[in-house]
Amino acid sequence: MKIFLDSAELEHVELAASYGILDGVTTNPSLIKKAVASRQQRGEDVDLQAYLCRLLEKAADVPVSLEVIGTRRQEMEKEGMLLFGRFNPVADNVTIKVPVNPSLTENGNGHYEGVETIKALADRGIPVNCTLVFTPEQALLGAKAGASIVSPFAGRLDDYLREQNQQDFAKEDYFPADGLEQGNVRDDNGVVSGIDLVGQCVDILAESGLTAEVLAASLRNPRQVREAALVGAQIATLPFAVISRLLVHPKTIEGMQGFTRDVVPEYAQLFEEKKVKSEE
Ligand code: E4P
Repeated sequence: MKIFLDSAELEHVELAASYGILDGVTTNPSLIKKAVASRQQRGEDVDLQAYLCRLLEKAADVPVSLEVIGTRRQEMEKEGMLLFGRFNPVADNVTIKVPVNPSLTENGNGHYEGVETIKALADRGIPVNCTLVFTPEQALLGAKAGASIVSPFAGRLDDYLREQNQQDFAKEDYFPADGLEQGNVRDDNGVVSGIDLVGQCVDILAESGLTAEVLAASLRNPRQVREAALVGAQIATLPFAVISRLLVHPKTIEGMQGFTRDVVPEYAQLFEEKKVKSEE
């Protein structure tokens, strides 16, 4: 499974790239807002165009998703082309993120303008990440319309199921992949958890012979990352804090404390001698 960074913070991109584990980056308007606010808090003026160019350069060689902001096909198509035209030349790594259904109300606008936009951009050869996917059917239509990536939001689906059951929870809490044991609302139209949503998206695309990759989005804890991989997600996008937590286990720390304590001077000297020799 590929690991993407879910962040618009330059420092996060630099660090993840330096770890050698960065396969891509996803942003959205909320992540950009956060990155801009954190720089402004430090008293910096933000020239967003220059900032995004730096981010794309830091993530050179891996795809970076930039999201449109409109809700109608014509504006989203125009924005997608503008983002791609302006930023793809920087490092040839831009993917345009388009909501599967950009309606702002339940009844929507009566059109399927997300999938129309995906098709229009894909027809122009622009790679598209179909975002805000909460059902396997949305994934199917996004992929059929031409998206190369579809992004089910696992954590937010878990939030929705908890909210339906009036459960108190923290964002990072683990939600069981096989669903809640108790509660009036056990599933969302046959989907029992965010990880189940990811798995059903993987299955429906495979059954349909579609090659779009499933990107497990909105992941909040390490166990969800493992489970996303085990249900076949091709990509997981992770906030930097979750990437860091993938490396932590108390027995790893305890082991390090023991090994560090047990270094005898004779062993330590080996390294000193080596150092001297290599400096000669
Ligand atoms: C990534 O493509 C999504 O925009 C992101 O993972 C959403 O995460 P959140 O639900 O934690 O905001």
